[in-house]
Amino acid sequence: MRVLGAARRPPLLLSGLRAPPPLRRASLRPAGPQLLSTPIFYANGPPHIGHLYSVLLADALHRHRQLRGRGGRLATGTDEHGLKIQMAAAAAGTSPERFCERMSAEFRGLFRQAGISYTDFIRTTEPRHRRAVGHFWAALHDRGWLYRAPYEGWYCTAEESFVAASQVVERPDAQGRRQMVSLESGHQVHWTQEENYVFRLSAFREPLLRRLREGRLAVTPARPFGQQVQQWLQQDLPDLSVSRDRNRLGWGIPVPGDGTQTVYVWVDALVNYLTVAGYPDAHQEWWPGACHVVGKDILKFHAVYWPALLMAAGLEPPEQILVHSHWTVQGQKMSKSRGNVVGPAACFQRYSVDGFRYFLLRQGVPERDCDYYDGKVVKLLNSELADALGGLLNRCTAPGLNPGGTYPGFSEECFPRDGRGPGRASAEDYQLVASVQALPLQVEGFFEGFQIYKALEAIADCVRRTNGFVQRHAPWKLQREDPAQRPWQETVLHVALECLRVYGTLLQPVVPATAAKLLSRLGVGPTERSLRSLDFLPRYRGETCPFEGRPLGADTGLLFPRLEKPTEGGHGAPRGLNRGCSK
Ligand code: ME8
Ligand code: MG
Repeated sequence: MRVLGAARRPPLLLSGLRAPPPLRRASLRPAGPQLLSTPIFYANGPPHIGHLYSVLLADALHRHRQLRGRGGRLATGTDEHGLKIQMAAAAAGTSPERFCERMSAEFRGLFRQAGISYTDFIRTTEPRHRRAVGHFWAALHDRGWLYRAPYEGWYCTAEESFVAASQVVERPDAQGRRQMVSLESGHQVHWTQEENYVFRLSAFREPLLRRLREGRLAVTPARPFGQQVQQWLQQDLPDLSVSRDRNRLGWGIPVPGDGTQTVYVWVDALVNYLTVAGYPDAHQEWWPGACHVVGKDILKFHAVYWPALLMAAGLEPPEQILVHSHWTVQGQKMSKSRGNVVGPAACFQRYSVDGFRYFLLRQGVPERDCDYYDGKVVKLLNSELADALGGLLNRCTAPGLNPGGTYPGFSEECFPRDGRGPGRASAEDYQLVASVQALPLQVEGFFEGFQIYKALEAIADCVRRTNGFVQRHAPWKLQREDPAQRPWQETVLHVALECLRVYGTLLQPVVPATAAKLLSRLGVGPTERSLRSLDFLPRYRGETCPFEGRPLGADTGLLFPRLEKPTEGGHGAPRGLNRGCSK
């Protein structure tokens, strides 16, 4: 892409910027409420599981923060302007307004079904957003960061973005016709030439690089994504066209004061984060300090264009950008334009909402793409939710072992603190207690470090070891009637239920309904489920346990029923072929 000549070029002085408000580093605000966002989804087609993954990551993080009492907001929504949507509506033989109404409702419906705990849902066609974009544009304009110039280059409608000539190749389509495509995405590009407003992006290369290096703009995971952003910033950073000719693109927000141009859809879309913060009215409670969850395909927009635009408008860049990779089907990115999508509704039906939430969050690794196929879901859910977790609960609450149906007692003689005295617990048992004790903090670190899959791995590992603990001491072989054996039998069950109480509490952000069922079965009341008050095995420290002796909750059936193996012809790779992401 190229700017052919500037019609108006005011002197460019970074020092002329108004002093930004004092910075607040991520490390200085560990526990404050934060505005957390998902990308806003293109309303050009129904949602697929890739979109669901983006929103689930943010939801789980938000729920985890809520349980810790950190508060905050979770914003999501639909991106409704631009050429791509104008074309999708035309192809569907309807108006863009009607088309977006329908698609946006589909996303909201999915999010409701998936239990997404969003606090804000924004549509870019709302008047509040149009007003925010107008103000934002005026700020860029008044501060001298925009100029009008003829602009030409390859435009990729699928990505709503200009693509550098070096990133474009000729590749015949399925019918052998000549076409030019973007190297990175494989989508077709078209040569466009028009007079646009251009943003002086090039002036922000150095300031952005500095922020990134100083950690004031955190891109997580740093490898590979923080590095990737640094690489982009070390290369040439051309100015950016930020409007389109209104004759070509009528479906968008008009440029304030210039009816011949439409605001570029990415500028329009990015401003959504400010709109939900309350901009241009009072927004200081939520801005600066935002945290954006994004897919790696839209990283440049969030880590380069957006911070630059914000700085130009006199606002602070986001504090953190959390980046995830893609779900693929047979190695190809799942995308609406490729038509290889897996629909969430069928997955919820097959695996239940919680089952599918668990799968995506447990198996998806932000750093790497992950291939989807049904056999993998069944295997994981059967082994971790049905057998390991459900089985553990089942064994430890079985009426044969616990006829009174109460939370069993703990004997300090059998399980003396720090192995003092002759008790019956083994070194492995003490290790288990130490691991479960450390688990909540470990899980918190993984959530905040955007490694939710590792949090789930750590929990699954503890569940496995708790099963080992129960197996080792086989409480079903101990005689309740024997006063020498009963305290130890109860203690084994007490420790196992305490472990389960920790797992149930920690799993709430990921599998809310299943965790609620587990906690209810243990007799844990609704006000006893927060992470702030989570206290594991107080009896071991010589303190009282509020649960001991309490009636257990009603038995409402299996925690997570085992799933049938999928029939051949399901999604993705054939069974037995392990194409999954390696961990
Ligand atoms: O990009 N796997 O919207 P979008 C994982 N409107 N995530 C995927 C995915 C996949 N196969 N396919 C898509 C847009 N996503 C813009 C955003 S924000 C101001 C504007 C993720 O509907 C993708 O990475 O194309 C992105 O994070 C999100 O879904 C929205 O994609
Ligand atoms: Mg996309």
